[in-house]
Amino acid sequence: MSEHWQKLVEWLPANDDPNRPRITLSTAVPDARTLLMSEFDEHGFYFHTDSRSRKVQQLADDPRVALTFLWPDFTRQLVVLGDAELAPIEEQARAYRARSAYLKQLAWLNDYENAQLPVEERRERWASFTDDPDALQPPATWVGFLVRPHRLTFWEGDPLAASRRTEFTLTDGDWEKSYLPG
Ligand SMILES: Cc1cc2nc3c(=O)[nH]c(=O)nc-3n(C[C@H](O)[C@H](O)[C@H](O)COP(=O)(O)O)c2cc1C
Repeated sequence: MSEHWQKLVEWLPANDDPNRPRITLSTAVPDARTLLMSEFDEHGFYFHTDSRSRKVQQLADDPRVALTFLWPDFTRQLVVLGDAELAPIEEQARAYRARSAYLKQLAWLNDYENAQLPVEERRERWASFTDDPDALQPPATWVGFLVRPHRLTFWEGDPLAASRRTEFTLTDGDWEKSYLPG
């Protein structure tokens, strides 16, 4: 197992862990937002969103992204640089199935018109959704992206020493490792 992959497996929760990591997705047009990382594999990191969202237009214009993972106890940070591309259809369907009933229903109701409504009407619209979101296929607006990394920077704090980063950079098909100050 390559060293960078070993570290990813050690640091990130398994794909079937329902507590999904939060990531900050930064786009090349300066913008940023928090997302759930749906899963990761040897190709990269997957997230899912609404095709009408700003980020999807920004990624169509320029697929370069940064993903930032911050551990809740602030002892670890992982920064990924890479390029985003559409995830395979079967991965998108799998990710929808793995989301909670709340998030499945959100994928159906989270539109611009809904956002204009006062809270009572938004709650009414939510409560009157009669379909079982667990039984539904993802809406046509559900879209997944795969971020293929070319740089991985693992930051580790240490109460007894200076923090340090371990960086892996993809160069001519090989991952090169270096250490950087924290
Ligand atoms: C903890 C947390 C998790 C979120 N997860 C997602 C997600 O997985 N997918 C998503 O589209 N938006 C998610 N959001 C909402 C986004 O941060 C963002 O507001 C939304 O996607 C619109 O972003 P955009 O206008 O930059 O496209 C999440 C927000 C928070 C606070």
